Amino acid sequence: MIPELTRPSVYMRDGTRVEGVIQAMRQAGANALQVISDFDMTLTRFSYNGKRCPTCHNILDNSKLISEECKEKLKDLLNTYYPIEINSGLSAEEKLPLMVEWWTKAHALLVQQKIKKDLLSPVVRESSAMLREGYQLFFDCLQEHSVPLLIFSAGIGDVLEEVIRQAGVFHPNVKVFSNYMDFDENGALQAFKGQLIHIYNKREGALLNSGHFQELRDRHNVLLLGDSLGDLTMADGVYGMENILKIGYLNDKVEERKESYLKAYDIVLERDETMNVANAILHHVTGGQ
Ligand code: TMP
Ligand code: MG
Repeated sequence: MIPELTRPSVYMRDGTRVEGVIQAMRQAGANALQVISDFDMTLTRFSYNGKRCPTCHNILDNSKLISEECKEKLKDLLNTYYPIEINSGLSAEEKLPLMVEWWTKAHALLVQQKIKKDLLSPVVRESSAMLREGYQLFFDCLQEHSVPLLIFSAGIGDVLEEVIRQAGVFHPNVKVFSNYMDFDENGALQAFKGQLIHIYNKREGALLNSGHFQELRDRHNVLLLGDSLGDLTMADGVYGMENILKIGYLNDKVEERKESYLKAYDIVLERDETMNVANAILHHVTGGQ
């Protein structure tokens, strides 16, 4: 039905179910659809030319805004906690307190650096952050069909917004839930606002933002994109869900994690740096042939 689903990077636990959901979504059309996507390593690339691409946090960690001493500390945190994030031998319950620890320590270090708001834009421009191949079509198709896109990220909202603004795709149908910086009267970072979002509390984040889902209460079909098992709860606030299709990017530790991803996601994309599968599904659901 959709040729992109037969690519070698695509794995499905139940292809027949996937086809059924896509058909039901196509019948209901663009007006019944909302898209919820994670940001880091889902909308952005995991690697390019064999080199890892940065997350929102890494964009700052690698920048001139951070002292050498602080860079070392942030790198130590990454080396300690990232292997835990992707360890398939630990449960979400076991990882949760450690992820809170990572985010709390990393944010405290960033705050100590008194990052200036007006330097975020040049730092993002100079970074090696890249949206996945086909991102333009993805954002433009959603905009064209007035399909709301919620970007739900445990990254840093100010950085994320700058990435999509500089790419020219921060269209009015895009809404962001993320960790936002709080700047003092001199424009220096003094804290992070509101409830912390880390990779394992997206459900709580969704429920706290019930107003957004209330506004979209007539859209009962959801296309969800993520790269972590924590991303699966991003749609927990959706009203009267009828159909959901979950697409998961499996970027790292592919063999170890494949089974758990296949159980949790409807479509698993293995080392796929493109938006091609999501774009093909959107094309079909929004009425394309
Ligand atoms: P996401 O929800 O948009 O994917 O953002 C979360 C990612 O951010 C997660 O994969 C881990 C990453 N991260 C860093 O790279 N550095 C950090 O200091 C922290 C706290 C998270
Ligand atoms: Mg992610």
